[in-house]
Amino acid sequence: MNLTTIILAAGKGTRMRSKLPKVLHKIAHKPLLQHVHDTAVQLENNEIHIVIGHGSDLVKQTLENLQVNWVEQTEQLGTGHAVQQVSNQISNDTIALILYGDVPLLKIETLQNLISKITEKTLALLTVNLADPMGYGRIVRDDSGNVLRIIEEKDATEVEKQITEGNTGILAVQGKSLKKWLSQLRNNNTQGEYYLTDIIALAVSDGFEIITSSPQNEDEVLGVNDKLQLAHLERVYQLQQAEILMRQGVTLSDPNRFDLRGTLEVGQDVEIDVNVIFEGKNQVGNNVKIGSNCSIKNATIGDDVIILPNCVIENAQVGANSRIGPFARLRPETVLATDTHIGNFVEIKKSVIGQGSKVNHLSYIGDSLVGKKVNIGAGTITCNYDGVNKFQTIIEDGAFIGSDTQLVAPVTIGKNATIGAGSTITKDTPDDKLTLSRSKQLSVSGWQRPVKKEKL
Ligand code: UD1
Ligand code: CA
Repeated sequence: MNLTTIILAAGKGTRMRSKLPKVLHKIAHKPLLQHVHDTAVQLENNEIHIVIGHGSDLVKQTLENLQVNWVEQTEQLGTGHAVQQVSNQISNDTIALILYGDVPLLKIETLQNLISKITEKTLALLTVNLADPMGYGRIVRDDSGNVLRIIEEKDATEVEKQITEGNTGILAVQGKSLKKWLSQLRNNNTQGEYYLTDIIALAVSDGFEIITSSPQNEDEVLGVNDKLQLAHLERVYQLQQAEILMRQGVTLSDPNRFDLRGTLEVGQDVEIDVNVIFEGKNQVGNNVKIGSNCSIKNATIGDDVIILPNCVIENAQVGANSRIGPFARLRPETVLATDTHIGNFVEIKKSVIGQGSKVNHLSYIGDSLVGKKVNIGAGTITCNYDGVNKFQTIIEDGAFIGSDTQLVAPVTIGKNATIGAGSTITKDTPDDKLTLSRSKQLSVSGWQRPVKKEKL
């Protein structure tokens, strides 16, 4: 059976108090609307239409990669009116599924279950029993429990308001019938809107059975209307991801203090301390330990790596058995071979560090090729930039760079060369030799410390 999914996303989201259209606000760095899309797209034979209105250009531009049909609703005259905008693109024999761009955590299983209920004469409706159904349309049933209609909170009588079964808004029905009912909607209600919910009563009068089902968890159908709800769903989502990782064997010191804003593939026996944030696409090998407060983005981390607290790693590869941090920064295009040590207050950018090499303290290594078993002393700086262009530093295998050295690129340090501490190296240095550039130490006789002049 073919599916036509219609995602409603034209609303303004006034309570977000933001210039950004509501559906572009993010959970785990991904727009709400994209969460909904990414779930819907997993349904087979599914054609997706998204109804946009407020900030439609920005929505389309931000999500231009989505393979969907964008439909404009220039005036927001209600949920029924929104679906009417797609009406002529719904074929008769398809199943139409209605979703909401601001309900991001809906599960694919819930949708599959809903759709499986559809026959020629049924409408499938997702409802939820709520402790506090305030704001929700209520499901009105007859004495035998058959659904008769949905009444919106604003149109409900005091008795109807007592109903705790709420309308999630999510429903599925055959295209042919949906189109018929859409054309029959009227806006004679408190809000003067065309309510999609009115199709329930129309379906009942056409002899349809309304089959209801509920999500496993209420959070699945919660919408985002303000920043509090956004933060709540962010935590719900993060905890779900933490649970998946823990089931895969990851040790999380505190699943409530873990954030994944992208993907993370993990090996065995990975331990992650508190407040670690992963972004983008990441791969972590076996026996990796990650200390607290690390920010890791688009990284590949080999087996047996230890990352100590407070490291920032972006677009970098860390070879097996390496030790990073604390307080290290690996910037884009950093490639560390196996057994490397990168210590505190070391910044590495667009550089390759060879096997067994160490940069342990207070250094900047940029645009460099560092060989194997190189030791780079504290405070070493590759001067890679003349204010206009960038130049490369090459440090060959086994070299030893004394502390507080400046390597002015382009420059090559030979194999097993030693650079004396405090040198400024501007020319290539030979293999095996000690090279240094410093003025001779001298002690000035007769020199006196200045003294403060007495005020008269
Ligand atoms: C709607 C339902 C209500 C349900 C609730 C669940 C109706 C009439 N009511 O109420 O029964 O309990 O959702 O959250 O359907 N939208 C458009 N164009 C419009 C109007 C709305 O695209 O003209 C979109 C909004 O962007 C939003 C969604 O539809 O994503 C729901 O609209 P909203 O105004 O929030 O509906 P509710 O009053 O909450
Ligand atoms: Ca709403």
